[in-house]
Amino acid sequence: MDLVKTAGNKAVEKIKKRIAKYLSSKKMVSFDGYAIAKIKKSLSDILTASPSTFSLELPPSHIKADLSVSLFELAKEMKTDPKKLAEEMAIKINETKNNFFESAQALGPYLNINLKKQKIYPLLLKEIAKLKDKFGQSDINKNNVVVIDYSGPNIAKPFGVGHLRSTIIGQALVNIYESVGYCVVKDNHLGDWGTQFGKLIYAYKNWADKENFKKNPIEELNNLYVKFHREAEQNPNIEDEARKIFQQLEAGDEDLLKIWLKFEKISVAEFNKVYKKLGISFDTYLGESYFVGESEKIIQEALDKKIAFEDSATGAIAVELSGLPSFLLRKQDGSTLYITRDLATLKFRTKTFNPQETLYVVGEEQSLHFRQMFTLAKALGYADGNTAKHIGFGLVSVDGEKMSTRKGTLVRLEELIDQSIAKAKEIFMSKNKDLLSNEVEEISEIVGMGAVIYNDLRQSRQKNISFDWEKMLDFEGGSAVYLQYTVARINSILKKLNNPRTVLGNIVLEKESEFALAKKMMFFPMIILEARKNDSPHLVAVYLEELAQLFNHFYNEVSIIGTENEVLRLARIALIKSTATVIKNGLALLGVKVPEKI
Ligand code: ARG
Repeated sequence: MDLVKTAGNKAVEKIKKRIAKYLSSKKMVSFDGYAIAKIKKSLSDILTASPSTFSLELPPSHIKADLSVSLFELAKEMKTDPKKLAEEMAIKINETKNNFFESAQALGPYLNINLKKQKIYPLLLKEIAKLKDKFGQSDINKNNVVVIDYSGPNIAKPFGVGHLRSTIIGQALVNIYESVGYCVVKDNHLGDWGTQFGKLIYAYKNWADKENFKKNPIEELNNLYVKFHREAEQNPNIEDEARKIFQQLEAGDEDLLKIWLKFEKISVAEFNKVYKKLGISFDTYLGESYFVGESEKIIQEALDKKIAFEDSATGAIAVELSGLPSFLLRKQDGSTLYITRDLATLKFRTKTFNPQETLYVVGEEQSLHFRQMFTLAKALGYADGNTAKHIGFGLVSVDGEKMSTRKGTLVRLEELIDQSIAKAKEIFMSKNKDLLSNEVEEISEIVGMGAVIYNDLRQSRQKNISFDWEKMLDFEGGSAVYLQYTVARINSILKKLNNPRTVLGNIVLEKESEFALAKKMMFFPMIILEARKNDSPHLVAVYLEELAQLFNHFYNEVSIIGTENEVLRLARIALIKSTATVIKNGLALLGVKVPEKI
């Protein structure tokens, strides 16, 4: 099985080195340096309460205050009534001299706070101007390692939109975790083992159209797979043949392994084209095949610990865990299963990378698989110190139907992306006549790609998604292009003003819409932490749409070019530059690029 392991071993060594280096030296933006963190710290000093016992929130629009703080938790801790606590705290804040708080009022169990805006927002805008693309990042989790298992396509099959969701959500989580300090291992657990390879090798040996295999290997492999199932209906004997081939493969038959390796190489090259389009790279492609050897040891351990047992009738190895349906670790014919290999993988990750967490970004339909696997891993001690989480997501449908290879409704990913780019192009050709043709090409590419990614990430991942081009490319809202267009508008205003440098002296703002915009930006570093905590990239998307709305509101109200007061004009310029920075940073977390102009 050395054939299978060599490349993987190298990757593993590289990751181990990277983790060690990261943990010893990584310089990061300090969360405590952010305006929002300072406000929180100051408040916690005044209240003499730990910052973890309360959170700062944006009050609902009918409340005239800058921030609101719920005191439920703190009151519970102090064993006092939250309303009374709010009253006491309001008095305390109003009596204490400080840099941030203008005034405070109690409203039921809440504290409503008004900020010293002319002190805080200049601080904020300077912060953003200084940190630029790093604004929002923080060091909160700087000693943590997380393994993110995502994409996981199956070799010898086309990369369908099903795996696209895992790839998009997984990559967004990679970006989000990295931005708050984690060292992330990007692990692509390829589906490259299993009984289907017995079938495929049987079909390949007997029926392959060598010409077509050279030209379109994946298509030919897919054809062979379909043909195998058709033939097997007439002639069930070939199922046995295939099973035997897989047993020999699993036993390490060199000739069969060579064929299998050919499939693997072709497939990975094909997947890499997709990843390149998406701008994604992985640390490892340790597929299921890498863990076949380890699987036997696991089965033995589970037997020794009496967690698994041999079925006396069939000889298969089964596991029964309380509250879960029983499952097999070894089939009657001696071969291992998906779950056996997954368990070996989890054990390996815990031991090799020593992560605090491992995330499995896989469709909701595998939730039972993960429950079984995690429960067994716990029983065997394979995930000690490593919290394993299934990050599930809903289905992808086209015209209300779930996509599937068998039904032929599986749209190829490249087709989908190409279609999106073509639609974007159509819009730009008709809408914006000032763009040169090479600009149209470039912008359509970015916008088309962004539409596919953002459509997936803008709503909570558990929901099913569909492709509605009109919504995905709507300039008015709810789309990546809406956000990209907002940045492009800011760029064009700045251009009209001859790209002014922001002079960060006395920044003074005056309108409510300006304060609202600045305040929203102040929350950005917190939103990323929230998105991390909930494994929910959509929180970033929702935030960005709200931010863009606030910008548009401000922009309808204020003319920057027409602002005569020099200080105010510069402040407004700093404000819109910051808005562009935050939108770009947020979209970057989601994996969406932003063109200079639209
Ligand atoms: N190849 C699998 C599938 O297509 C996904 C792999 C997910 N990762 C894992 N560790 N099970 O269903």
